[in-house]
Amino acid sequence: MMAAQPGNAHRLRHFLTTEDLSGGAISEILDTAESFISVGEREIKKVPLLRGKTIVNLFFEASTRTRTTFEIAGKRLSADIININTSVSSTQKGESLLDTVRNLEAMHTDLFVVRHPLSGAADLIARSVPSHVHVVNAGDGRHAHPTQGLLDMFTIRRYKGDFRRLTVAIVGDVLHSRVARSQIHALTALGTKEVRVVGPRSLLPAVVETLGVSAHTDMAAGLSGADVIIMLRLQFERMSGALIPSAGEYFDLYGLTRERLALANKDAIVMHPGPMNRGLEIASDVADGPQSVILPQVTNGIAVRMAILARLAGASAAEGRTP
Ligand code: CP
Repeated sequence: MMAAQPGNAHRLRHFLTTEDLSGGAISEILDTAESFISVGEREIKKVPLLRGKTIVNLFFEASTRTRTTFEIAGKRLSADIININTSVSSTQKGESLLDTVRNLEAMHTDLFVVRHPLSGAADLIARSVPSHVHVVNAGDGRHAHPTQGLLDMFTIRRYKGDFRRLTVAIVGDVLHSRVARSQIHALTALGTKEVRVVGPRSLLPAVVETLGVSAHTDMAAGLSGADVIIMLRLQFERMSGALIPSAGEYFDLYGLTRERLALANKDAIVMHPGPMNRGLEIASDVADGPQSVILPQVTNGIAVRMAILARLAGASAAEGRTP
């Protein structure tokens, strides 16, 4: 479910997936994010756009980057942010997801940021909340991670410019990756010249080509001439059995080493949504090397999440005014 009006990103009610967003709607959000970058560079990193609004971070799954950057984004917009620690909340006593939400809603929450291990959890909450309450999907099962998808688009646009000239390779465990799904929808909506997924057959979705991407099981073919390489973690927690022979063999065949990176265009950028497993999908000297933009991705997440919160919770920034 996506309450977006294509081309009218400012009319978003919830932000649950990148699936129904047009290229124009994505570009509008990225433009708003661009206007928020300067807030993070000021001495006083705060604007009053969401003063008086209450945002609840409701994370039922571990997170370092997403939870923290949503908290920083909300605080920079002057909202009140509450982090619910689900390991000590009443869900441990059997309270249902929707009852937890209804109780938090009774405390006058304006916006929920939800991460949940089950696909569809954020959508379920979005269907149950009253019309003045907004929901952002911060990752649901293997379904979608739309704010990560958009911060990745923001990063690519900043470093590489026009998507219509780019070849992007998404490498690794695409099958279990909600990030890859959100990236693929956004990249195709933005008119990317070529989107490739690269990995062992056992980790590529069976019908991935129907999403408008080409599939490669050979790393050299997948990386050749790429402008952007996005490495993905092996998501063992979502695998129902062993889908790779061993970690060592996986790195030998699909790990991003300096030698393999040299197959891509010489100014290619290397991305990773994190968390990263060094020596498993990526070599340390590549992760920390001059072509890596992995830490700028994290920083960009603040401005992109500010843009999404501001657009949902209603703010002058939604009309394109520089804060
Ligand atoms: N990329 C990402 O979702 O990271 P976290 O799990 O740390 O939030």
